[in-house]
Formats: sequence, structure tokens, C-alpha cells
Amino acid sequence: MKTMKTHMSIVFSSAAIFVVTAMAVFGRIQAATQPGEAIVALAQTGATDNADPAMIAKGRYLATAGDCIACHTAKGGRPFAGGLGLDSPIGQIYSTNITPDRRTGIGDYSYADFDNAIRRGIRKDGSSLYPAMPYVSYSKMRPSDVRALYAYFMHGVTPVSQPNTTEDIAWPLSLRWPLRFWRMAFSPEAEVNESSVSADPVTRGRYLVEGLAHCGACHTPRGVGFQELALTDDGRTFLSGSVIDGYVANNLREDQKDGIGKWTESDIVGFLKSGRISHSAAFGGMAEVVEDSTQHMTDADLKAIAAYLKTLAPKGASTPALQGNNAAGNALRAGTVHGNGELTFIDNCAACHRTSGSGYDSTFPKLALSSVVNADDPTSLIHIVLDGAQMPWTNAAPTHYSMPGFAGRLTDRDIADVLTFVRSSWGNHAALVSAGQVRKVRESLGLPGQPVLPQN
Ligand code: HEC
Ligand code: HEC
Ligand code: HEC
Repeated sequence: MKTMKTHMSIVFSSAAIFVVTAMAVFGRIQAATQPGEAIVALAQTGATDNADPAMIAKGRYLATAGDCIACHTAKGGRPFAGGLGLDSPIGQIYSTNITPDRRTGIGDYSYADFDNAIRRGIRKDGSSLYPAMPYVSYSKMRPSDVRALYAYFMHGVTPVSQPNTTEDIAWPLSLRWPLRFWRMAFSPEAEVNESSVSADPVTRGRYLVEGLAHCGACHTPRGVGFQELALTDDGRTFLSGSVIDGYVANNLREDQKDGIGKWTESDIVGFLKSGRISHSAAFGGMAEVVEDSTQHMTDADLKAIAAYLKTLAPKGASTPALQGNNAAGNALRAGTVHGNGELTFIDNCAACHRTSGSGYDSTFPKLALSSVVNADDPTSLIHIVLDGAQMPWTNAAPTHYSMPGFAGRLTDRDIADVLTFVRSSWGNHAALVSAGQVRKVRESLGLPGQPVLPQN
């Protein structure tokens, strides 16, 4: 449920930019305004309600694939009743009650109202939603799927009477009008036809990844207006990696070193289904995505996602695959090492990740040749060493293995050295990590300062 905070911090870490962007793109918007309004008007006709059980079941599945629950449920709260408080530099914002309660939820939303909210970012009262609600991705959803979702939210979700909490944002940032310009500039028009229905797995995978599953909301880098730089495969930027809530949401393109170039389709399916495979395990926001959403998807859909991801060309120049070697492992075992990084590794990490860096299959992830370890940006690695992590709980793999946090035990220098060692051993090849980088992450996570070592 931390996911929400994640999205929000990205979107709001500079809400003022919305305003600036709105002004900057004003020229473009003038032209865009008219068609945008026309679509809204069109959508307001022809609503029909549908309580067909098959339709409701389909909607339930789609709601899981879209991970609506992650953001719309407060910690310990009733499902979909909203109220999850989100920190942002401009104040607190709360997700809304999307249960069919008529007074406090969306029970009086027509199909058109619902469709406008989830695919166009427009509330029933006509004002704009914050783009933390990933309507930019949901705009790709075809109308028949929106109808099924609507049937589920109207008839398959228990109504909960829980008034929405108004966002706690000071004027003038509390004004919603700039969001309208953001929407006009950055949101694609909602899909109008059903042509994306196909037996071809790649087509189905594209539909899910770009749309409902909103993978790009975390994995695609953002521009100055906090818009995702690409919403569909542009041959380079889409899903090329981004930092979200203190973790690197990895490059999911075919790059060999830091992308998923050496992952097979069944690796991807296994990761999304169980949260762990021989050479990686989900953590950070991804652990929640696996737990709430992807583990519940059908094998056919997971295979489709994998098939589509494997079509994404590398973002960078093609580099040869990393080749493993065990020189570091041999030196560690022979006891011939003296560097602080090596010694820190033996004392703190080798018990689980082993001197060979190969870990234990699906229990302690492999560090050798790992795409996480070799990412250009070491933020995830620093974060996980400082704060520890717990694997997601999944039906396919119910044991929560965890890694302890070392913030209270290792200095910034120790962590920098051990990660530099990990990133240059067993065939890994990534830039060194500095104590300054560790300090920054420690501060941004609000963790206590580094331990003071006893003088002797
Ligand atoms: C990444 C977080 C996130 C996800 C995922 C998400 N939402 Fe939202 N949603 C929000 C937030 C935040 C708001 C309120 C935004 C605001 O106040 O402007 C919202 C608003 C809405 C609204 C408008 C409610 C109103 O008061 O008018 C609807 C409807 C909605 N979401 C439905 C859904 C559905 C259906 C899904 C899944 C398909 C979903 N949301 C997934 C964050 C999310
Ligand atoms: C809430 C943000 C978020 C969303 C949404 C999200 N991811 Fe992730 N993902 C992350 C983060 C953070 C990581 C890095 C941590 C890890 O490796 O588990 C990650 C890692 C991954 C990895 C492992 C990559 C590697 O090199 O180890 C895969 C594969 C992946 N995501 C696929 C997906 C797919 C497919 C979707 C859409 C169905 C998706 N993610 C949606 C945040 C997200
Ligand atoms: C008690 C066992 C244990 C110890 C000790 C340990 N780890 Fe871990 N490590 C894990 C587990 C379990 C995970 C998977 C966490 C998750 O996915 O939530 C992990 C994940 C990682 C990852 C992410 C790998 C990936 O691909 O997902 C890195 C990097 C890492 N550990 C480095 C270290 C370093 C460096 C140390 C020593 C400072 C260390 N670990 C100590 C158990 C351990």
C-alpha cells in the first residue's frame, strides 16, 4: 500500500511545475481544448448498467490487473474505501472512496461519469483529477473492459460509507484548474474501438502493459511536467527505468547489463507470479505490485506480458552480455582479501548471498550478473542495504524471506565499499558507489545517522 505514496511523490515533488507547465504549454492547449471537450460530451450519452455475473467477474479480474486496491485502500481500511493519506511537499492528498456507496462513494456515478474519471481524469463535478490516478495509462483501455470494471464496482464491491478526506494543500496549489491543462497536454484520447482484442500474445501483452497494468507509471522516466516521457513503445524511452520512492524501477527493455535482455519469458512470468526467481526477487514498490496484482493474473496474461516485454529493443547501444567469473569468490574463500568492501561482505552478506555471489535459488537472490546490481543508478542497492527488505507473499511462494537493514550497523563508507565490491565482482560491471551517495539516500529515507564506531 506504499505504492500510492510512491506515485504521489513523483507527481507532486514539484506540483508548482504543473502550473509552470500549464503556462508553458498553453499555446498547444488552445488547439487541444476543443476535441477534448467533444469527447467528454460524447461519452456522457449511452450509459447502461450491467449486473451480469460474468461481466462482474471479468471486472473483478480487470480491477486486480489494474491494481486499483493498492491506491484506493488505506492501511487497515476497508477495500476500495479510499482515505490513504499521501505525503507530498505541497501537503497531504487522499485517495477517494470508489465503493458503490451512494453518498460517500461512486454509487451515483453513471457509466459515463466512471469512464470520464478512469480514462480521462475528469471527476463527476467536471474538475480534473490529480494524475496520481493513472488515467493516462487507463485511457488505453477498450470500452468493453471499462464496462466490465463499472459492473464490478457497481455490483461486486461492498459499499462502504466513508466520507472522502479533502486534500490538505494550501492555496494556490490547491486549485485544480492547472490540472486541466496538464490533462490536455499530456493525456492521450481515450480508446474508442475494440481492435486491440487479439489472440496474439504480443498484442495482448502490449494492451496490458501500456494500459491497465500501468507498468510505465513506475518504469518510464518522467519529463519536466512529470509526464511519462513515452506511453507506448517508442524504441527507446518507454519502460527504460526510473526512480520511484527511493528505488530504481528497472529498465525493462532488452539491454543485456541493466535491462532484462538475459531474462527468458519464463523468468518474467515466474517473477510476476511468485515474486522471486533464481536470479532476482521483488522488493520496494514491485513487491506490492506482485502481491496485490500480478500474482493473481492468468498464466496466459503473464505470458503475454513477457512476450511483449521481450519485443522492446535495448535503450542503449548493444553491449555484450556480462560473463561470470569467480575470481572474487576464490579470493574471499582463500582469505587473501584485505579491502574494507571485501571484509564487510564476508562479515555481513556472505552468509546469505555466498562468497560466489550466487545466493540460494529463490531464497537469497543471486548478486552475480544481476540486472539490479548492474543498474547505472545504485539507489536501489543503497536503499536495500540500509533498510533491508522482505520478499512479497505470494500463493506460489508463501515464505517471506527477508534481508536485515544495515543502517545501524554499517557506516556510509562501509556500505559504499561493500556495494562497490559487489558491483565489480563475479563478472559484474558497474560504477563505484560513493559514501556521499549513501549519505543522501540515508537522509532521504529519514534513517538515523551512520553508527559511530568505537575508537580503539
Ligand atoms: C497509483 C494510484 C492509483 C491507482 C492504481 C488507481 N487510482 Fe483511482 N485515484 C487515485 C487518486 C489519488 C484519486 C483521487 C485523485 C484526486 O483527488 O484528484 C483517484 C480517483 C479515482 C476516481 C475518481 C473518484 C471521484 O471521487 O471522482 C475513480 C472513479 C477511480 N480513481 C477509480 C479507479 C479504478 C477503477 C482503478 C483501477 C482500475 C484506480 N482508480 C486505480 C489513485 C489511483
Ligand atoms: C508501483 C511502481 C511499479 C509498478 C506499477 C510496476 N513496477 Fe516493476 N518494479 C518496480 C520497482 C521499484 C522495481 C525494482 C525492484 C525489484 O527489482 O523488484 C521493479 C522491478 C521489476 C522487474 C525486475 C527487473 C530486474 O531487472 O530485476 C520486472 C520484471 C518488473 N518490475 C516488471 C513490471 C511489470 C511487467 C509491470 C506492470 C505489470 C510493473 N513492473 C509495474 C516498480 C513498479
Ligand atoms: C539474512 C540473509 C541476508 C543477508 C545477511 C543479506 N541479504 Fe541481501 N538479500 C536477502 C534477501 C532475502 C533478499 C531479497 C529481498 C527482497 O526481494 O525483498 C536480498 C536482496 C539483496 C539485493 C537485491 C538483489 C535482487 O536482485 O533483488 C542486494 C543487492 C543485496 N541483497 C545485497 C546485500 C548486501 C550487500 C548484504 C550485506 C551488506 C546483504 N545483501 C545481506 C538476504 C540477505
